[in-house]
Amino acid sequence: MLFIDFYLIITILLPLTIHSVDQNDDHYQDVYFEVVEPSDINYTFRCRPSKQLSTDFNQFYENIYLIPAKPLRGCSRLQNDFELNRNIALIERGDCSFVTKIEFAQQSGALGVMIMDNDSTAHAYFVQMIDDMTKRKVLIPAMFLQYKDGHMILNSIEKNHVMGARINIPLNLTYHQMLKVPRAPGSNWL
Ligand SMILES: *[C@@H]1O[C@H](CO)[C@@H](O)[C@H](O)[C@H]1NC(C)=O
Ligand SMILES: *[C@@H]1O[C@H](CO)[C@@H](O)[C@H](O)[C@H]1NC(C)=O
Ligand SMILES: *[C@@H]1O[C@H](CO)[C@@H](O)[C@H](O)[C@H]1NC(C)=O
Repeated sequence: MLFIDFYLIITILLPLTIHSVDQNDDHYQDVYFEVVEPSDINYTFRCRPSKQLSTDFNQFYENIYLIPAKPLRGCSRLQNDFELNRNIALIERGDCSFVTKIEFAQQSGALGVMIMDNDSTAHAYFVQMIDDMTKRKVLIPAMFLQYKDGHMILNSIEKNHVMGARINIPLNLTYHQMLKVPRAPGSNWL
């Protein structure tokens, strides 16, 4: 019953807000994470791994940092690789392929990469990250983050003058489990 309710609500709600390329059952593999610090964004966020490009998280990372890449679009060698090493890179969509961004994050030693949307008009929609056919190998989990969420995190990092957001990822959420930390404001998921 729980399963059916969840499925129905999601399939009723999501199509109203999603513009394109969203497959109906993609949300089953979404990854959730909570921000511990800065405390003004102490929320649970949702992101979507690429079916084609991503490897799965093979462990739970507690207190790992989500750090904006320099440059933010991540289309050239990342200058803050010292900070990114063994943390997660936050990169903005645009200017080069997803694979290029992931590869630069990988080279910096990042354990994962989150690519946030560059389109402020795309409210609640996940871009399906696809291969650029260059046959380069992606070795780390790569996830897509919505514009609103990415910018909320980015703004908080800037405002608080910190190098990144301290997060716990991936959360193990079963349908009947309560979130420990409330979901991010304006989120369209349950
Ligand atoms: C966002 O990224 C897409 C894909 O690379 C690109 O086509 C678009 O021009 C970018 N938009 C902005 C505002 O940078
Ligand atoms: C998630 O939690 C459930 C219930 O505690 C457990 O049975 C399951 O193995 C967990 N899954 C992962 C991937 O850790
Ligand atoms: C984050 O929010 C949760 C739930 O409201 C609270 O229990 C926790 O103490 C908060 N953590 C921080 C670091 O503010």
